[in-house]
Amino acid sequence: MNHPTPPPAQTAPATPTPAQTAAVDAAIATRRSLRAYLPTPVPRETVEQILAVASRAPSGTNTQPWRVYVLTGAAKAELSRKIRAAYDDPAERATHTEEYAYYPTEWTSPYIDRRRKVGWDLYGLLGIGKTDKERMHAQHGRNYDFFDAPVGLIFTIDRVLRQGSWLDYGMFLQSVMVAARGRGLDTCPQAAFMQFHRIITEHVGAPANEQVVCGMALGHADPSAVENTLVTEREPVAEFARFLG
Ligand SMILES: Cc1cc2nc3c(=O)[nH]c(=O)nc-3n(C[C@H](O)[C@H](O)[C@H](O)COP(=O)(O)O)c2cc1C
Repeated sequence: MNHPTPPPAQTAPATPTPAQTAAVDAAIATRRSLRAYLPTPVPRETVEQILAVASRAPSGTNTQPWRVYVLTGAAKAELSRKIRAAYDDPAERATHTEEYAYYPTEWTSPYIDRRRKVGWDLYGLLGIGKTDKERMHAQHGRNYDFFDAPVGLIFTIDRVLRQGSWLDYGMFLQSVMVAARGRGLDTCPQAAFMQFHRIITEHVGAPANEQVVCGMALGHADPSAVENTLVTEREPVAEFARFLG
């Protein structure tokens, strides 16, 4: 199905069929952060469709804060090469600092516990021991190859925009990932890229008013990769929602 860019808003049926409900739920619930990809290319048209559908995400007063750089082929390989060179050199790496704080400086429970669990679950699958700093460094470094995905997305936001626009941005990112799922594709959102925002903005030619939000791998997941068997946990609804009234 070809969408114009951007697609018109569509009117939903008053009562979705069970199959429509199941398709929406499956696109959301089968999304996982996958960290190994096949070289199978993703047509540019498919990426355009995904971005066009995702741009139906809501944003306060329809500000649409997203800007996306789609990297493939030599452009993607060259960005990975530049970041890897900085990442693998401790002195050089230390000169690259994140522009915004994704995480708290002081972790508390239950967040630190969940963070540790997903980390050790992933490393456990890969057979990386708790003291194996070299292999941890190498695994983290796979972020900068977009986990070998054929498409690397870099997301930026205008610096004039405020915290509310970052909410909008999250909805857009999720919509990208769900639209990808609807086409049998997988993703991994990647905050790891923001440390190297100077390299990225120069490489993609982003103007100074744009700030790197994150990156994202997009492609066909490698079904034989052990890291792709990771299924993360979620708290039950009763733990995070209170029904009043
Ligand atoms: C904004 C954002 C940034 C993330 N950055 C990274 C990253 O840099 N590298 C990575 O491997 N996973 C990254 N993740 C994936 C999370 O670890 C993952 O979403 C979480 O563990 C839940 O697992 P699931 O996505 O498979 O459900 C990121 C997720 C989000 C939402």
